[in-house]
Amino acid sequence: PDKIQQLSQEIKQLKAERNAVILSHVYQRPEVQEVADFVGDSLGLSQRAAKTEADVIVFCGVHFMAESAAILSPDRIVLLPEIKAGCPMADMVTVEELRAKKREMPGAVVVCYVNTSAAVKAESDICCTSANAVKVVNSVPEDRPVLFIPDENLGRYVARQTGRKIYLWEGYCNTHEKLLPEDVLAAREAHPEALVLVHPECRPDVIDLADAVASTTGMIRYARESGAKEFIIGTETGILYQFRKQCPGKEFYPASDKLLCPNMKATTLEKVHRALVTLEPRVTVPADIREKALRSLERMLAVT
Ligand code: 13P
Ligand code: SF4
Repeated sequence: PDKIQQLSQEIKQLKAERNAVILSHVYQRPEVQEVADFVGDSLGLSQRAAKTEADVIVFCGVHFMAESAAILSPDRIVLLPEIKAGCPMADMVTVEELRAKKREMPGAVVVCYVNTSAAVKAESDICCTSANAVKVVNSVPEDRPVLFIPDENLGRYVARQTGRKIYLWEGYCNTHEKLLPEDVLAAREAHPEALVLVHPECRPDVIDLADAVASTTGMIRYARESGAKEFIIGTETGILYQFRKQCPGKEFYPASDKLLCPNMKATTLEKVHRALVTLEPRVTVPADIREKALRSLERMLAVT
C-alpha cells in the first residue's frame, strides 16, 4: 500500500509537469483507476480524448482505444503504458479479410465495433461501441444491408433490438465467451434477490438470462438508478471497483470469476509512471489511415 501511495503521488506530480491527462477504462486495476482523471467505457473515453486540452494522453486500456485517441486527437502525444496490451477480438478481422468480404457484398454498410484496428476502421463506414450500437445501426438507411464486424454476439444482439437484417462476422471476446448460462444460474441461486446485468459481448444464451444488457458505463448507471440492492455482474471483474465506489450500500457479485481480461490487467502503476517519465511507448496512426478512420469515428460521434 505504501508503494502504491508513493507511486500515485509521483504520477500526479508528473502529470502536472507534462500537462497530461490519464484516461482509464473501467476494467483496469483499481489503483490505476484511482490515478485517472476520467474512468469510463470506450465511448466516454473516445469523447474525452476528442476534446482534451492536455498535451499528453496516458491511455490505460488496450491498443485500439489508444489508437482511437490518436485518431481523434492527432496533435497530442498518446501513450499506452503497456504497448502489448491488445484486444484479441480486434485481431479477429484484418483489412484484407474485410476488403474481400466487401467485394462479396457491394452496397453493404460496414458498421465496425470500436474494438478494431485503425486500419479496419479506415475500411469501414461507421464505428460503434456497445453503448451506441443500436443507435448507429438505426442510423443506416433501411434499404441498405449492414455488415457488422467483428463481434458476432453484439451484432446479433443489435439485430434483435433493431429488427434489422445484419450480416455477422465470426469474432468474439474470449473473456466474455467464458461466461456460461450455468454460471449465471448458479449466481442467481446464491443471490436470489439480485438483478443480472450483462455486457452484449456475452453469448446469446447468457444475454437471454439477463435483467439488463448494457455497455460498462450503462451497467453502472443502471445499478445507480435501480431500486434494487444486489446485482450479479456479467462483464470483466475490474468494473466491480467502480460499481462499489459509485453505488455505496449496494452489493455486487461477479457472475463468474473467469471474467478477467489479461490485456486490461497488463497496465500497472509502475508502467504508468514510466510512461510519464519517458513519454513512451507512443501510439501513432499513419496520416492516410487516420483520415479515413476519423470519418468512421466522427460519424459515430455525430449519431451518439
Ligand atoms: P465498453 O465499450 O462497454 O467499455 O466495452 C469495451 C470492451 O472492451 C468490452 O469488453
Ligand atoms: Fe477485448 Fe474482451 Fe478484453 Fe474487452 S474484455 S478488451 S473485448 S478481450
